[in-house]
Amino acid sequence: MKQLHKQPSLNHRRDEEISSNQTDPYSPKALKHHRSLPRSINYLFKEQRLLFILVGILIGSTFFVLQPTLSRLGPSDTQSTAVSRSFSLPASRNNGFEYPKRSFFGRVPAGIERRRLRIVVSGGAGFVGSHLVDKLIARGDEVIVIDNFFTGRKENLVHLFGNPKFELIRHDVVEPILLEVDQIYHLACPASPVHYKYNPVKTIKTNVMGTLNMLGLAKRVGAKFLLTSTSEVYGDPLEHPQKETYWGHVNPIGERSCYDEGKRTAETLAMDYHRGAGVEVRIARIFNTYGPRMCLDDGRVVSNFVAQAIRKQPMTVYGDGKQTRSFQYVSDLVDGLVALMEGEHVGPFNLGNPGEFTMLELAEVVKETIDSSATIEFKPNTADDPHKRKPDISKAKELLNWEPKISLREGLPLMVRDFRNRIMNEDEGKQL
Ligand SMILES: NC(=O)c1ccc[n+]([C@@H]2O[C@H](COP(=O)([O-])OP(=O)(O)OC[C@H]3O[C@@H](n4cnc5c(N)ncnc54)[C@H](O)[C@@H]3O)[C@@H](O)[C@H]2O)c1
Repeated sequence: MKQLHKQPSLNHRRDEEISSNQTDPYSPKALKHHRSLPRSINYLFKEQRLLFILVGILIGSTFFVLQPTLSRLGPSDTQSTAVSRSFSLPASRNNGFEYPKRSFFGRVPAGIERRRLRIVVSGGAGFVGSHLVDKLIARGDEVIVIDNFFTGRKENLVHLFGNPKFELIRHDVVEPILLEVDQIYHLACPASPVHYKYNPVKTIKTNVMGTLNMLGLAKRVGAKFLLTSTSEVYGDPLEHPQKETYWGHVNPIGERSCYDEGKRTAETLAMDYHRGAGVEVRIARIFNTYGPRMCLDDGRVVSNFVAQAIRKQPMTVYGDGKQTRSFQYVSDLVDGLVALMEGEHVGPFNLGNPGEFTMLELAEVVKETIDSSATIEFKPNTADDPHKRKPDISKAKELLNWEPKISLREGLPLMVRDFRNRIMNEDEGKQL
């Protein structure tokens, strides 16, 4: 019956196929276009088309093989020209706000741009976070900052407002959030004793629930996750300097425990998500860091001394001043965090400057830098204050090819400049 409705224009071959299908309804379907293959090959061979195609492929591959080498020899390294806006060291130094000379993303042929990443920085309005955001934006990635502004400030990021690669979300990490991202730098947590002791329950909630939420997000979207842990996980250490293999000497019920034990739990959670759910995690154990944009009155020793010396107040030394700390400039830390995220090793890695200073020695350097007539005032020490702190960074040197470059005497003046401006503005504000 079907044939009755066929158009008369149908060719003979088509009629043959239909009639053969009708005679044996279970015979296998005829291959479509089974005769077009030789025709297309025919087409290729005609007029030397195949030759042209082969020559094209050859030229294309030569271009992609040679270009990266040529561009490396060329004078312009566009990435290395990008420098952060404000707190840069003299050009002679490779400070943290220059782009790294080596690419962290393997060899990308010239002409093909590295895929732009979308990166979340929790706590990105804080001291370390804002410097990290600057570096990520400068290298061309998109950054979403989530912050509840507990200790962070919009002023730290104001220079990025209006930049299409930057977004800022007011959000508390204790609550879940859903975002499509490639990497998560999880910094959100008050970091100075004054701030984390202010509301210890909130501090431990931030460390535990906040880290759980960010790890959950990493798992859901398949993002890489970096935790900024702390040297405080070593407590008042019985091993000196501290290696990553040292398990620590921590008071679990003290005033600092919300922070120390909170970060230890955060490390545990990160490792459990790594082993149990295959999340690609990275753990940094950060030692004392200083630099521009630190909170003026956060009780951390460098910011305390600098702010007091500028305000012509005596510098407060707790205890006898013989306890030691090491001080890392913020750009060195930011370089280390990025190297860790882009590297292949989970960690934990100590990121700190191994140069060790007593509190009295630090006070001397601050006097030299700011005011030689500055005085010192002694006060009783706070509970559980560690006696010694000095990182062993051999693991980071070997596996991340990272080590700090900025000495205390070089970094301190950069911080002092920023503090002076902010304290002057504060004073002017009071006079209005
Ligand atoms: N600076 C250091 O010397 C040092 C040393 C060891 C570890 N760290 C770690 O590095 C990270 C950053 O430290 P920092 O010195 O920049 O501190 P910071 O206080 O300047 O920054 C922390 C940021 O997290 C935000 N935040 C806090 N709780 C939050 C929450 N519940 N939800 C969302 N945002 C929240 C704050 O508003 C702030 O912007 C912290 O995790 C800290 O523990 C810092």
